[in-house]
Amino acid sequence: MSDNNIQFLLNNELRTIVNCDPNMTVLNYLRQVLNRKGSKEGCASGDCGACTAVLAEVSCSTKATSEKEQLTYKSINTCITFLSALHGKQLLTVEDLQQGKKLHAVQQAMVDCHGSQCGFCTPGFVMSLFSLNKNLPTAKIYNAAAKDETLELSLEQDIEHGLAGNLCRCTGYRAITAAAKEACFTDDVDQFELQAASTISQLKAITATNDMVALHSEGKSLYIPATLDELANLVELYPQAKLLAGGTDLALSVTQGMAQIQSLIALGNVNELTQISETEHTLSIGAMVSYQACHQLLTREYPEFGQMLYRLGSTQVRNAGTLGGNVGNASPIGDTPPVLIALGAKLVLRRGQRTRILSVENFFVDYKVTQLEEGEFIQSIEIPKSDKRKQLKVFKISKRLDDDISTVLACFYLKLVDQKIVEVQIAFGGMAGIPKRAFLCEKALLGKTNCPETIAAAMASLAQDFTPLSDVRASSEYRMQVAKNLIKKCFYEISQASTNVETRVESFSVQRAFNA
Ligand SMILES: Cc1cc2nc3c(=O)[nH]c(=O)nc-3n(C[C@H](O)[C@H](O)[C@H](O)COP(=O)(O)OP(=O)(O)OC[C@H]3O[C@@H](n4cnc5c(N)ncnc54)[C@H](O)[C@@H]3O)c2cc1C
Ligand code: FES
Ligand code: FES
Repeated sequence: MSDNNIQFLLNNELRTIVNCDPNMTVLNYLRQVLNRKGSKEGCASGDCGACTAVLAEVSCSTKATSEKEQLTYKSINTCITFLSALHGKQLLTVEDLQQGKKLHAVQQAMVDCHGSQCGFCTPGFVMSLFSLNKNLPTAKIYNAAAKDETLELSLEQDIEHGLAGNLCRCTGYRAITAAAKEACFTDDVDQFELQAASTISQLKAITATNDMVALHSEGKSLYIPATLDELANLVELYPQAKLLAGGTDLALSVTQGMAQIQSLIALGNVNELTQISETEHTLSIGAMVSYQACHQLLTREYPEFGQMLYRLGSTQVRNAGTLGGNVGNASPIGDTPPVLIALGAKLVLRRGQRTRILSVENFFVDYKVTQLEEGEFIQSIEIPKSDKRKQLKVFKISKRLDDDISTVLACFYLKLVDQKIVEVQIAFGGMAGIPKRAFLCEKALLGKTNCPETIAAAMASLAQDFTPLSDVRASSEYRMQVAKNLIKKCFYEISQASTNVETRVESFSVQRAFNA
């Protein structure tokens, strides 16, 4: 059905975009082209959530033996989402929730709980609540879970995570979280649930032919390949084109940096890049898998990695941002690269028909410079499965708990036998122009006993591993001191755990490291 144009459902109405500036955001399209002004622009950088809308897409749920197609709902920041992300999806904005005179349950809850004052943030909150309402387990499960002490996330925490990407300057969050609770416990069946089967068949029809979309407008080009081979050909043919994954970094170059992208290749519809698979020893995560989509798997394998992902951006950012984009972005303060380095993860890089494997550690060369060759891209990230004899510790230091970029991120992956450190890999973000191993620190620890003298030597050696920069987030001295303190914290937690329990440590140091 797709005939070289972007097609999507705006609520339940099929929309076709024939001419498209690749730099056009969904928010500008809604407000300027469609004159739908419910979604607001606050920051245009993904930080305030005023522009939040929801994308629904078809996914498969495997329950017991049957496979069932269903709609998955994701909140996104429309201010940093380019139009290409809509192809084959359903876009729902705040205008779509009310049915006739009847408010949607999440809107009614905001009214009942007095969750709005000036109202500027309200459409964004309502859409985040709508997404929460669609994604949270039912009240029944929560009531049962409340008695289960091993369950990590309570309803309150889920609500906090779901709303952490929305800012309100007037109302105060108590009323809004009360509305969230009310909205999550509703038994209402909404129009989207009633129309799900029809929505699914309409969305499947859009992508049924699996055609590549190529749009050209005023000298600018947008390509949306549908297969890995098409993508590989395009990247070789147009090596200067920008690759778009979730856009949570790239879009900011347009909305904040005022750049204009001339040629854009959007990876979102390449099915092979959204796959997760596992063998006996390895997890393979496609470059386009979002943080949200790999969160459960990574939490199962490495609980501390999963905890850290909950501190990466907001729900809207985690729904869009990808592991491939976080590595490809090559930022010294990207959160996943230090963890991937410490775990010994590898990248599958593709150029034309050729693939090669490179460790994440060797991928980064200099500030924003990587080993990617012209015409090459990241196809997948290969992460070794956890070794139960080892411990992983991840500490993120940032000014705010939620939705904040790291000042320093430290990751320790180590094995102790009778208090002797027999294996150790340590990587830091925010301490150099690239995410990097702390080789001298590792050397000071390897083969030594976990004792105050060993830790002091490791802390001292860190000054030879790194000369951190001063910037808006922190001074060089602060970064060095906090990094040293994290070494102490790591071994303190390990000692505490070994005196308390014999089993594998699953502490929540990520939370406790906030503002350490
Ligand atoms: C509000 C907000 C909060 C944030 N908080 C955090 C945070 O806490 N921690 C953190 O680490 N980051 C954070 N970020 C930054 C951002 O989420 C990450 O950099 C993100 O991982 C980028 O992934 P993406 O899929 O959105 O990539 P994009 O923005 O689409 O791309 C980023 C770069 O990677 C390249 N790229 C993408 N995919 C590939 C590929 N397959 N092969 C080669 N190159 C590729 C692109 O060309 C581009 O240069 C935040 C961003 C926002 C807007
Ligand atoms: S306008 Fe602030 S997140 Fe989009
Ligand atoms: S009600 Fe005014 S900003 Fe939230």
